[in-house]
Amino acid sequence: MITFRGVSKTYPDGTSAVDGLSLTVEVSSMTVFVGPSGCGKTTAMRMINRMIEPTEGTIEINGSDAAYRRPAQLRQGIGYVMQHAGLLPHRTVVDNVATVLRLTGQSRKEARGASYEMLTRVGLDESLARRYPSQLSGGSSSASAWPGRSPRTRPSC
Ligand SMILES: Nc1ncnc2c1ncn2[C@@H]1O[C@H](COP(=O)(O)OP(=O)(O)O)[C@@H](O)[C@H]1O
Ligand SMILES: [Mg+2]
Repeated sequence: MITFRGVSKTYPDGTSAVDGLSLTVEVSSMTVFVGPSGCGKTTAMRMINRMIEPTEGTIEINGSDAAYRRPAQLRQGIGYVMQHAGLLPHRTVVDNVATVLRLTGQSRKEARGASYEMLTRVGLDESLARRYPSQLSGGSSSASAWPGRSPRTRPSC
C-alpha cells in the first residue's frame, strides 16, 4: 500500500508541481495518473522512490515512511519503467533485464534464468534476448524495459 499524506513539491525556481496530494493506493490495485502535460504526474511518481524529495508531507510504503528508508534499498523494491526505455546500451537485453537482480545479489546464472522467464512473460522472443538495445525496434525496447526495471520481489502495488 502506498499512502500520500498532504504531499507537495515546489521546485527551487518556485514552480509548484504537486500541491497537497493525499491518496492511498491499495495492495493489488492499479492506479493511473491522468492529466495534461506539466500537471505533476511524473513529480508525484518520482517522489515515491525518492528520486525527487517532497517539500511537504509524507509518503508511506506499506506503513513505513519512505523518507527514512535508504534510497537504494527502497528503489530495489519498486518497479520503474522509464519513459524512454532506459536500457543500458552496452548490455544485451537479457543482461539489461538481469541488472537489478544482479544488484540484489543473485549470481549471473540465476539472474539470467529469471531474466529469460520475465522476457517470455512479456512475449519477447529468446532471439531478442541476445541483442543489444540498438538492434531493437521501439516496441521491443519498451517491452524489454519493463521486466528490466522490475524489482526482486513481486510488488504489492
Ligand atoms: N526540475 C524541475 N525544476 C523546475 N520545474 C520543474 C522541474 N521538473 C518539473 N518541473 C515543472 O513541474 C511541473 C510538473 O512537471 P511534471 O511532474 O514533469 O509533469 P507531468 O509529468 O504531469 O507532465 C511542470 O510545470 C514542470 O515544468
Ligand atoms: Mg511526465
